[in-house]
Amino acid sequence: MQFSLFQLLGLVLVSLTVVEALNFDWDCTRSLGTCNNACFAVNCKRKPSKLTYDANKSARGPRRTRSGCNRTPCSNTKYKASGNSCDEFPFASVKEGGSGAILRCVKSSENSSEGGQLSAFYKKLKNGEKFGIFVRNFKGAKYCENARLCRNDGFEFKAQRRGFINARAEDDGFSAADTNDNFEGVPFRKFMGNDGVERLFLSNVNDPKSTIVGETITDGEGKEVKITSEVF
Ligand SMILES: *[C@@H]1O[C@H](CO)[C@@H](O)[C@H](O)[C@H]1NC(C)=O
Ligand SMILES: *[C@@H]1O[C@H](CO)[C@@H](O)[C@H](O)[C@H]1NC(C)=O
Repeated sequence: MQFSLFQLLGLVLVSLTVVEALNFDWDCTRSLGTCNNACFAVNCKRKPSKLTYDANKSARGPRRTRSGCNRTPCSNTKYKASGNSCDEFPFASVKEGGSGAILRCVKSSENSSEGGQLSAFYKKLKNGEKFGIFVRNFKGAKYCENARLCRNDGFEFKAQRRGFINARAEDDGFSAADTNDNFEGVPFRKFMGNDGVERLFLSNVNDPKSTIVGETITDGEGKEVKITSEVF
């Protein structure tokens, strides 16, 4: 097989990107509801899991308006039964956030645990930098634990022009009118860190060949962990 110079350059760039990729090492212990929402949004709603950090804090409010969170669904709709704080995925702090975000009402302590970890992680990023997401200590977040499960528990929702509606499990690119509660997600790939803790790599792109072993991930306190193996 022959490679052109451009293809070779491409390969070099891709491998550099893989090695340099920044990953958020999300500890779900105190933010199970928000982790659960992220797992549902990525796996069942095909929301992007490679996110682009937007350092412009003034852009967050408008994104919360577009996602619907600013219409306080967690105090004035039935969805408030799972918490009083509106969580959105993709986050309001990334370029992918805003319209069409998947919402879940969580406890405000979960919102602040997630928010605190993210803002500490963001100190490592430059504006416009992309990052991936690993979750750990996700036991109890059922959409993370069992990614085949995409049946809406009644608390995953999204904004409409007026009001809110259950987020359906089908791919958005499919037929929007059809509820397909039997849609099955693809299990997330699982990895072991050099701290002996298992993590899920959030992705809906089935690319088993992508190199993740060897990558470094960073948690909200700046602690770095190396991914040592894939768990099957
Ligand atoms: C930050 O976001 C706000 C709201 O979207 C926008 O008006 C402003 O121009 C942005 N600032 C920069 C520097 O991009
Ligand atoms: C959730 O956290 C964000 C910051 O991470 C904050 O701006 C927002 O007000 C919080 N929402 C509630 C309802 O606590």
